[in-house]
Amino acid sequence: MSSPQIWLVTGTSSGLGAAFVETIIARGDKVIATARNVDSLLHLKALGAETLQLDVSSSQEELNKTAQDAISIYGRIDIVVNNAGYVQFGTIEETTIEEWNQQYQTNVFGTLNATRAFLPHLRDNKSGTIIFIGSMVAWDGVPTVGTYCSSKAALHYAVEALSREVASVGIKTLLVEPGTFRTKFLSSQNQKRAAPKYKDYEELNMTVSGDFDQLAGNQTGDPQKAAELVVNVVKGENGTGGKKWPSTLLLGSDAVDLIRKRCQETLRELDEWEVLSRSTDVY
Ligand SMILES: NC(=O)c1ccc[n+]([C@@H]2O[C@H](COP(=O)([O-])OP(=O)(O)OC[C@H]3O[C@@H](n4cnc5c(N)ncnc54)[C@H](OP(=O)(O)O)[C@@H]3O)[C@@H](O)[C@H]2O)c1
Repeated sequence: MSSPQIWLVTGTSSGLGAAFVETIIARGDKVIATARNVDSLLHLKALGAETLQLDVSSSQEELNKTAQDAISIYGRIDIVVNNAGYVQFGTIEETTIEEWNQQYQTNVFGTLNATRAFLPHLRDNKSGTIIFIGSMVAWDGVPTVGTYCSSKAALHYAVEALSREVASVGIKTLLVEPGTFRTKFLSSQNQKRAAPKYKDYEELNMTVSGDFDQLAGNQTGDPQKAAELVVNVVKGENGTGGKKWPSTLLLGSDAVDLIRKRCQETLRELDEWEVLSRSTDVY
C-alpha cells in the first residue's frame, strides 16, 4: 500500500472544505484542516484531522509562518486545497471599492498568497499538487454578481499561468470550477450584499436576489460527491486514471451546460465577426 499523502485545506468550517477533509480522512490520507476560527473545526478534529488557524486574507508574512507550522506537523505537505471564498452581491455601480478589495483579498490575493506560502516547500520537494476552487461563473458575468464572477475569472487565468510556470518543477495545479452546490455559501452569514443605492437597479437586484434565495438549499450539486471526484482525480483512482489531467475540472451538470453554451456562443460570435476582426491587421 502506498504511504498516505498529506493534504492542507483552507476554509474547512463548512461546505466543500469540510467535505474535502471528511473524504481525505476516509481515504486513509492525512489532512490539516484550517479555518479562521479553529473552534469551528472540532467535528473534523474528532474525525482525525489536525487543525490550524488560517485566514487567507492575512499578510504574506503570517501565511508564510502558518505554512511553516503546517509543514512541521507531518514534515511535509503534498497537496494544498485553496477552497476558502465567499460571494459579494451588488451591481457594479452600487458596490464600493472596499467591498471589491475585500472580495479580491479573499478570493484572489489571499488564495495566491496562501499558494506562495507553500510553493517553496513544494519546489524543494519537486512534487506536489495545488488545487484551486474557482467557479463556473468565471465564464459568465452574472448581473449583480460581477464582483464575485470577476474574482473567479481572475483566479482562472492566474492559475492557468501558474500551472505553466511550475510544471517543469514537478508541481501540478488543478483548477476546479463548480456549478451550484448545497453548502452554506448562500447563507445570510456567509454571503455579503452591497447596500442598494439607486432605484434604477431595484427591480434587477430584487429579481436576482429572489433567484438566489430560491436556489439556496436547492442547488444541484452534492459537496460530498464533489470532494470524492476531486480526490479521485488527484489520486488517479475510480475511473479517473486513464484521462489526460484536466486544465479545468468542472463539477455539476449546471457547470457543464453553462460552459458548453458559452463556448458555442463564443465560436458563433467569432465566426460572425471574423472578417472584420481580421481586417485591422497591418498586412
Ligand atoms: N457552493 C457553491 O455553489 C459554489 C459554487 C462555485 C464555487 N464555490 C466556491 O467553493 C468554495 C467553498 O465554498 P462553499 O460552497 O463550501 O461555501 P461555504 O460553506 O460558505 O464555505 C466557505 C468557507 O470559506 C471560508 N472563508 C471565507 N473567507 C475566508 C478567509 N478569509 N479565510 C479563510 N477561510 C475563509 C469560510 O469560513 P468561515 O467559517 O471562517 O467564514 C467557509 O469555511 C468557495 O471558494 C466558493 O467560492 C461554491
